[in-house]
Amino acid sequence: MHSQSLSRTPQNVEIVPRNRQFNIDETLATNWHGGDAFKTAFFDAMSILFPLGEQFFIDSVKAFRGKFDDPELERRVRGFMAQEAVHRREHQRYNEALCRARGVPLEKMERAVNRRQKLARKLLTPKQQLSGTVAFEHLTAILADATFRNPEGLEGAHPEMAALWRWHALEETEHKAVAFDVFVAVGGKTWRRRLSMALVTLEFTQHVIRNMRLLLRDYEGSRIELWRGGFKFLFGEKGALRGLKQPYLDFYKKDFHPWDHDNRELVSSVMSDFGGAEVNPI
Ligand SMILES: [Fe+2]
Ligand SMILES: [Fe+2]
Repeated sequence: MHSQSLSRTPQNVEIVPRNRQFNIDETLATNWHGGDAFKTAFFDAMSILFPLGEQFFIDSVKAFRGKFDDPELERRVRGFMAQEAVHRREHQRYNEALCRARGVPLEKMERAVNRRQKLARKLLTPKQQLSGTVAFEHLTAILADATFRNPEGLEGAHPEMAALWRWHALEETEHKAVAFDVFVAVGGKTWRRRLSMALVTLEFTQHVIRNMRLLLRDYEGSRIELWRGGFKFLFGEKGALRGLKQPYLDFYKKDFHPWDHDNRELVSSVMSDFGGAEVNPI
């Protein structure tokens, strides 16, 4: 760690975007996750949220540029924004191809999030918006961690799709502390990020479930079986999201920092799969 800097991202973690493109348009017309409708819809529903969500994250951090004097943190902020910008681009392509294939207008799927964001931008102070981003970034960080810790989550998925999700999870891990460190640097309080986390958890869950229901609207089998099986896939003994309760709750601790969960070792093999980054990718 860099003791002089407000940035607490470990020195050996570089936040640099990899300008990846994924050839997935045709795959998205299928149940690409092992032929399983629930698993496919779960990931697809999250993807729908990213272009709008990540734009909000970028904007809320950008609003505080120049409000702290710390070249190291500033450098981390640039890395964060560049990574999220490439994520937006790839998930926008993903979502357009998905909606074409499934016959659901993207505009319809994004409508609820769009409305919420308009409200948030109008009613919340910049610091409140940043606090929301800090909470969302912790959710993405623990989901990313689960991607590597519980490989069952992507087992059986189409390799190109699995690569896309692992690439995104890797970069979410690399930049997981950036919004948090900016929030602390500008005087953000623990109670505020706690409150944001409670609200954001509900918000995220609600949007994922709504999008899944839209994507699964033509499913012909038993819906009870579908959701029961899905629940097992997510939270069962070998569930994709198992073990997330404690890392989630840790966020509410007073002295929490995202790198308290030091998962550098866990992601290091993935890092070598994807390699470093290219300069100026957008
Ligand atoms: Fe992202
Ligand atoms: Fe992120």
